[in-house]
Amino acid sequence: MKSSLPMQTSSLKNELEGEYLEKIRKDFPILQQSVHGKPLVYLDNSATTQKPKTVIEALKSFYEVYNANVHRGIHTLSEKATERFEHTRQQVHTFLNSTNEKEIVFTRGATEAINLVAQTYGRQVLQPGDEILLSAMEHHSNIVPWRLLAEEKKALIRVIPMDLQGELDLNAYEKLLSPRTRLVAITHVSNVLGTVNPIEQIIQLAHRQNIPVLVDGAQAVAHRLVNVQSLDCDFYVFSGHKMFGPTGVGVLYAKESILKNMPPYQGGGEMIVTVSFDHITYKSHPYRFEAGTPAIAEVIALSEAITYIQKIGFSSIQEHENRLLDYSTQALLKIPNLKIIGTAKEKEAVLSMTLGDIHPHDIGTILDEEGVAVRAGHHCAQPVMDFFDIPATARASFAFYNTQEEIDRLIKALWKVLEVLG
Ligand code: ALA
Repeated sequence: MKSSLPMQTSSLKNELEGEYLEKIRKDFPILQQSVHGKPLVYLDNSATTQKPKTVIEALKSFYEVYNANVHRGIHTLSEKATERFEHTRQQVHTFLNSTNEKEIVFTRGATEAINLVAQTYGRQVLQPGDEILLSAMEHHSNIVPWRLLAEEKKALIRVIPMDLQGELDLNAYEKLLSPRTRLVAITHVSNVLGTVNPIEQIIQLAHRQNIPVLVDGAQAVAHRLVNVQSLDCDFYVFSGHKMFGPTGVGVLYAKESILKNMPPYQGGGEMIVTVSFDHITYKSHPYRFEAGTPAIAEVIALSEAITYIQKIGFSSIQEHENRLLDYSTQALLKIPNLKIIGTAKEKEAVLSMTLGDIHPHDIGTILDEEGVAVRAGHHCAQPVMDFFDIPATARASFAFYNTQEEIDRLIKALWKVLEVLG
């Protein structure tokens, strides 16, 4: 299960190109295939990322060698599974630089993590007339849980506006913070626009008024170093499958001072100390929030995804993805009638586009015939589509294993779209 990648040290910077990049790509079996007779170009990384062999092997080895439930058995397999499961918690704690591993709760994904906060912390603090502050570029998973809660509690949702570049209006944000604001819930990186929000500043401004902040890091953790202590965010959530790990596992980081006072979320086995029909006592965090058998294999395999990312290193990842973003932006702008939706100064490598009157689904279909996988649709962010007054976009989103040659294939395929439908 050991990766063959050389370790990155500060004195040896591995540029993601040439033989090194080829070697990395070989670690991802799925990237070796052809689609419609053409080598696959996978540019749908914001939807989900591909998995290196080490992650796939970790899943397989769990089921072949030590499949057992965690925190329950005293037999050897269960002890091994528990030890590996808790090892991932330690690793996530280090990865995020949380204060300790008890601040790390495993969930089924970022969506469940946000629902957990809404239904525990949110339900505890929200009174009628209180406000939750979201941004105009949120994914549905950071809107719907708050809307459900607001309706139940007769609370209000307020929205931080953005401009046509896809940058938030921080002056408007400051004015929206009020004594009624109970929480700011905001995405770190927009899944449609690629905008990297200035969350440090957003958190500082909220904290001046003692308002906690939840950051949706689903689109950030695969691309940039996150340090929850230096950000000083109160909650940070992400999904494993968007960072080269398995589906079905996510993480909620919450400051211990908050987590320890949060009531349970789901009820069930493993989150209790004692149960009778009329009285229950609960375990402390994080276990109080992990009812039932968790996604054991997935949590264990997430550890390999983190190890893989750390071996490449975020400085190499950022440098490479920025280069891909610049290169593809320049090439796209040469295509007649192509409009890039999302042109913020601080952007991750996400390119949402429209092409004249051609429906994005048609763009996606022709690209697929050329072996190029992109997402077309509203990207679970209908308010963003409404703001730009479009029904959908075609979106190319990159990861560290993408190459300049793949972008050339994307551009060529887009010219073909124009030829066929333009
Ligand atoms: N949130 C994922 C996306 O943007 C599914 O595609």
